Amino acid sequence: MNGVARKVPSLDVSLGSLHLQLPTLMGSGCYGSGEEYAPFVDYAGIGGVVLKSVTRLPRLGNPTPRLSPTPSGMLNAIGLQNPGIDAYLAHDVAKFADRPCAVIGSVAGFSVEDYAEVTARLAARDEIDAIEINISCPNVGHEGETFACDPRLAERATAAARGATAKPLIVKLSPNVTDITEIARRVEAAGADALAVINTVRGMAIDVDRVEPRLGNASGGLSGPAIRPIAVLAVWEVARSVKIPIVGQGGIETARDALEFFLAGASAVSIGTGNFTDPRAPQNVTAGVRDYLAARGHAALREIVGLANAAFAGAR
Ligand SMILES: Cc1cc2nc3c(=O)[nH]c(=O)nc-3n(C[C@H](O)[C@H](O)[C@H](O)COP(=O)(O)O)c2cc1C
Repeated sequence: MNGVARKVPSLDVSLGSLHLQLPTLMGSGCYGSGEEYAPFVDYAGIGGVVLKSVTRLPRLGNPTPRLSPTPSGMLNAIGLQNPGIDAYLAHDVAKFADRPCAVIGSVAGFSVEDYAEVTARLAARDEIDAIEINISCPNVGHEGETFACDPRLAERATAAARGATAKPLIVKLSPNVTDITEIARRVEAAGADALAVINTVRGMAIDVDRVEPRLGNASGGLSGPAIRPIAVLAVWEVARSVKIPIVGQGGIETARDALEFFLAGASAVSIGTGNFTDPRAPQNVTAGVRDYLAARGHAALREIVGLANAAFAGAR
């Protein structure tokens, strides 16, 4: 090093007007309501928490069992269990005051009006820095994913949320579609500041001894390392289709996993299932990404966003 200290690469990132000190978000539904991890996690060591999705009315969720492990992942069918926006605002949101990281509220809905109303009410709270709309929940019957699977409805849900808040708006897309890029373009045109790519992949497991599905809901959403290649491809394709930043997610456990997403075109990443196996995964990702950047002489994470994608396009 000839006595010259190399600068530590910067990892800060902007998603619209949402500025993150670190590029690691905790995925919605995978961090409890955000406070359960407090004994294990230094919140200053993560970019932000995406809270559990909340709906207009309370939801009991799906019949149990709601989780089933699979090779390299897990199936879940929670069914958007939540207390509804009234109780959520009264009891839960205040717990997120003064967190040293971004706090992103997640809104789920069953109508365009739901997205407008719940977004407006949640975003009005000072504790909430940004809104993510979950238009892609696969575990609540067909209606949960209808918005993510129909370009026109995806656009309308986005426009409704956009009209309800000036805070940064992230829209979470489903992989369970024929052409994710068309949905991404429509959502961008409707005013989204960033895209979350991807939610879980529909799946099912059957208990052959009991001769019945392992999940009470029969089908569920697959997450974890099993879906990572699907997610990386989705980010790769979406990055070629839109200009707004992407939060890549699906099976990230390590820094090298996260780097795949950055190189494909994600500006930030989200860790969901990886938190269940290792609550320190976010810190390990941050440290490993910094080491990778430093070893290659990069001054900032943003220098490698989409690098593999651009290099591949240039080589063709
Ligand atoms: C148990 C569980 C609950 C989830 N709940 C939500 C939710 O409420 N809202 C949402 O947008 N995504 C939800 N997700 C999806 C995750 O946020 C994430 O997008 C997905 O699992 C892929 O990332 P991963 O492989 O890192 O988990 C849930 C995932 C799991 C495993």
